[in-house]
Amino acid sequence: MTRRVGITRRAALLGATGAAMGSMLPRLVDRASAATHEPRMLIARKGRAALWENEGPLADIWGYEGRVPGPLLRMKQGETLDVRFKNELEQPSTIHWHGIRIENAYDGVAGLTQPAVEPGATFDYRVKAPDAGTYWYHPHNRSWEQLARGLYGVLVVEEPGPKAYDRDVVLAFDDWRLDEARQIDVASLGAMHDWAHAGRLGNVLTVNGQPYPRFPARPGERLRLRVVNTANARVLTIRFTGLAPHLIALDGQPVAPELLADETLLIAPAQRADVIVDLPAEARTFTVEEASGQPFAACEFVLDGDPVTRATPLPQDIALPANPLPMTLDMDAALTQDLLMEGGAMGRMSGAMLKGAQRGMRELVDQGKVWSFNGIAGTHGDPAMFKVARGRTVRMPIVNDTRWPHAMHVHGHHFKVLSRNGTPVQREEWRDTVLTDPGERVEIAFVADNPGKWMVHCHMLEHQVAGMMSWFEVA
Ligand code: C2O
Ligand code: CU
Repeated sequence: MTRRVGITRRAALLGATGAAMGSMLPRLVDRASAATHEPRMLIARKGRAALWENEGPLADIWGYEGRVPGPLLRMKQGETLDVRFKNELEQPSTIHWHGIRIENAYDGVAGLTQPAVEPGATFDYRVKAPDAGTYWYHPHNRSWEQLARGLYGVLVVEEPGPKAYDRDVVLAFDDWRLDEARQIDVASLGAMHDWAHAGRLGNVLTVNGQPYPRFPARPGERLRLRVVNTANARVLTIRFTGLAPHLIALDGQPVAPELLADETLLIAPAQRADVIVDLPAEARTFTVEEASGQPFAACEFVLDGDPVTRATPLPQDIALPANPLPMTLDMDAALTQDLLMEGGAMGRMSGAMLKGAQRGMRELVDQGKVWSFNGIAGTHGDPAMFKVARGRTVRMPIVNDTRWPHAMHVHGHHFKVLSRNGTPVQREEWRDTVLTDPGERVEIAFVADNPGKWMVHCHMLEHQVAGMMSWFEVA
């Protein structure tokens, strides 16, 4: 029996060794070149990373280019990034470009939009980005294992024109489960207990693959923080004490700038949030904490050097230009598709359809299924949940009839979050992933304008594999 190290225990450890911590690793930026038609190579392979403490013991990981996160990809809005994916792992994989309203053939879903890329094989992706914003990429084959081992990276799509901030900083949070040897706890991958409960939760938190990065910054600098939750299942509560974070985008899409209440951001797996902070003029250090339980230091900004001065105070100037999203919902002519989520530990589910036949719980569990959408424990071979004519509005009331939160993700589209438990949502938010609480009813709607086969699934990756997945077709 492996001893589990609690996340608060790590906080104590970080406190004790804080002074000895190294500086952050150099940021590796890979810029798409419009001038060349050579694809950018992206190789999934084994690597090593210091996850436990800065410069500490190295854990074996799987990563793009053998590192975690994989290369930070940057491109301009409207451009196309050609990526040649090579799989040097021992199991098949793909790349999914999460949140990009991409052409269906490049969505990367093994068994739905492409066959999985076998070990040694390659696949060419054409990533055309209609929307600016913060996105990420990860496998869509055995995601629950491949992300837990480190396969993911961040994709930034830049707005045209001048920027209302000095610099952007990516903060990709991850939650790892390490064992006593400070290695990824692979023995517990696939544990049915995790699948039936909250998913795979970890005991170590990293930011950009590092246990405690320290970001140098200048006093008075205006930063755009691009926050990404890459965890398999952990919902994060990120607190920017003293930094007055102003939210400007969710899941890549602009929102009207607003100061985050309690300087705190709640962010579910796969979600992104862009926030603007104006660093104060005096040289000092700011800590960013994870505050779901006992507050826990995740990274810090170390202010030093000549102050930067800025004429306009927040929130002036920071609103982002709109993306070309289809935002006109025709609710009168909408197709309504209910989505009922059931199952999991302490749930009411007594059985579900699996591969075309009704089965009891015992048989479902034997098949690794414990959750259902509309009474169906999802597999990749199922028929579509619905088909919709291109351009029609889809209205989807989602009911979470389980004891667990779920992060519902729709591929190829962004949806508007209309209401929660019947109460209209005040903030106009267009998302690709929405968190639903136990017992909650969340209504979303979107214009189904992107032809092809698109997944809808829970982004708690253990829930996805254990039945919370389906797909729809836009024709
Ligand atoms: Cu981020 Cu279907 O995935
Ligand atoms: Cu879930």
